[in-house]
Formats: sequence, C-alpha cells, structure tokens
Amino acid sequence: MTDFVTDGFHHVTMVSRDARRTLPFYRDLLGLGLVKQTVNFDLPDTYHLYFGVDGGRPGTILTFFEWPRAGRGAYGVGGVHHVALGVSDEAQQLKWKRRLTDAGVPVSGPYDRTWFTSIYFADPDGQILEIATTGPGFAVDEPIDALGAALIQPKPQRLVGARDEATIQATTHPEPVPEIDDAMRLSGIHHVTGITDDLDAADGFYREALGMRLVKRSVNQDDPDTLHYFWANYDGARVLPASDMTHFGWPAGVRQARQGTGQTHHVAFRARDEEHLAGWREHLLGLGLGVSEIRDRTYFKSIYFRSPDGLLHEIATDVPGFAIDEDPAHLGEALRLPPALEPRRAEITAGLQPLA
Ligand SMILES: [Fe+2]
Ligand SMILES: [Fe+2]
Repeated sequence: MTDFVTDGFHHVTMVSRDARRTLPFYRDLLGLGLVKQTVNFDLPDTYHLYFGVDGGRPGTILTFFEWPRAGRGAYGVGGVHHVALGVSDEAQQLKWKRRLTDAGVPVSGPYDRTWFTSIYFADPDGQILEIATTGPGFAVDEPIDALGAALIQPKPQRLVGARDEATIQATTHPEPVPEIDDAMRLSGIHHVTGITDDLDAADGFYREALGMRLVKRSVNQDDPDTLHYFWANYDGARVLPASDMTHFGWPAGVRQARQGTGQTHHVAFRARDEEHLAGWREHLLGLGLGVSEIRDRTYFKSIYFRSPDGLLHEIATDVPGFAIDEDPAHLGEALRLPPALEPRRAEITAGLQPLA
C-alpha cells in the first residue's frame, strides 16, 4: 500500500473561453512558461495550452481547455473553489499584488491564514486564483508528528467581519512592478481547494485512494460556520510541497458545481511511470472506484476517476514530459499535434485563431 501515496499534484486543468486571452494572462502577467501549445485531442478545433515552471515540472503545470462555445461555470459541491500558486514570502507576495492591481486585476488580501498568507484574484474567465506564501507551514500550531489531530480554531481577529479589511486592502508594494524578478517568481501549485458536502467521505477518499493524510482541520476564516480540511503527502515528519488538497465543507444541498469557463475541469496527481500507473489503476479498482483505461496524452499517460462528490481526478505519469516532441529550449513556440492528428495539420491550423 505504501507504493500508493501520491507525490502530489501533476497538473490542474481549467476551462477558458478564449486561448488568446488566457495566454497573455498566465505567460506575460503571471510569468509562467508556455510549455506546450496543442489542441484538445477530442475537439481539435480548440486549443489546449500548458503552462509551467522549469519546462513544465510536475506540480507546476496549469493547463487550459479552450471551450469557446461553453457557458460560464460556477463553483459548488464537487468542484474546485480556487487554485493556489506558491511564492517565497510576504514581501514577494506584495509585489504580485501591486503588479496585478496595476494591470487592472482586483486583488484581495493579504490575509493571514496562520499556515501561510494569501492574496486572491481571478483570471480573465473568473477562475479564482490565490498566491500563497511557502511558510510558516502546518507545524506552526501543532506538533509536526501530530498534524490534523486537533480541530484548530483560528484567531478571532483573522475571521471575516473582525479583521481590519481597510488596512489589509491598503497594504501593497510601494513601487510599480513591471518586471518579474527571480525572487518573486511563482513556484507552482501550492494547494487546490475543492468543495464537498461530506468531509468524512472526502477524508476516506483522499486517504484510501491517494494515500494522503489530514494535515489540518480548521474552519473557513471567510465562512466561519463551515469547516476547512487539508490533506497532503505527510509522513509524520514533513509535508511534501505541491501535495496539499484542501476542501471547504459546505452544508448539504447548497449548490453543485457547474462545469464551464472559469472553472477547474480536473485535478491530476503524480505517478512515476506507466508501470506505476497500472498499479495505481488496480489499487483504485480494488477500492471499488470506476477508473478509466490508461490513456496516452503524449506528454504523460493518464487514468481518470471521480471523488465521492463527483470531482474528476486524474493520475498522470511524470514521464515522458514536454520535451518528447520539441526542443526543450523552444517549448511552446509552435503548435504540436499528436501523431494521430498530424495528417490533419493544415485543416486544424486553418480552424484555429493564431495565438499572440
Ligand atoms: Fe487557498
Ligand atoms: Fe489532465
């Protein structure tokens, strides 16, 4: 069983209405690398863009399906509320706040979440994003060998309604930030926060299916009547970075998530290689979950299954990676097609609007 503890996030896939709007936001404003431009293999008249750090290292990858004809999605039970990207510390985080607000993107925070500090904003489709600091980490209020053991009550002054919103909103970097320097560069996926109406079922799923453990049980500071649970790859001595899945626990019957633009389509976790992935598949089938066949996504192999709430999950291999069909020094510069679609390149290219 110990072989079936995920090493954390592989990628998160979201839905965009217009790839030509998504590209400058993630590449130019947030400074992520465009590591692949390809098409949705099932809808080849639409783009699938991949962004990442260090050429698209697992745990840093954000991908976007372009659904030009879809309606706007909405978060709710069985969906993702927000995706958080990492930054080293609060000084660098404030540079991001200034850079984003100067670009006309409204930002809320910084909010002290006890284990990290957070700012929030939305991408052009309304997908909620967060930039969260690396520290101080989950051991700040519980012993490292007993994370998740106690229900932690946040300090009252950190709760919505009690905190000093005017001071928080006024806090920013004093100078414009036209360039992204190395110190402020985003490190990849910090955590992903979904919504459930059954935290116990979610706990069983993340523990049994993905081998994760609870590392924090607290309340949602922005909605203090509801709980907020955090799971991660945790061995009793450390929490692996880029492995933290969190869920807000909503009361039953509030609202189901609605798929569409501005929403997360699925969350992918890591497996080493195809042999490991085949083992994962047997492991998940053994738990009674419905699991897809292994699919070839060119840059990785994947299986798909759903959480008890219906959120689509994937396990994707670390190999072969994005350099399989492009020079690593020129990732993302040209449209790449899988071998099965290559004979239709002229037709596919004619149907796509050129990216900036
Ligand atoms: Fe968050
Ligand atoms: Fe995926």
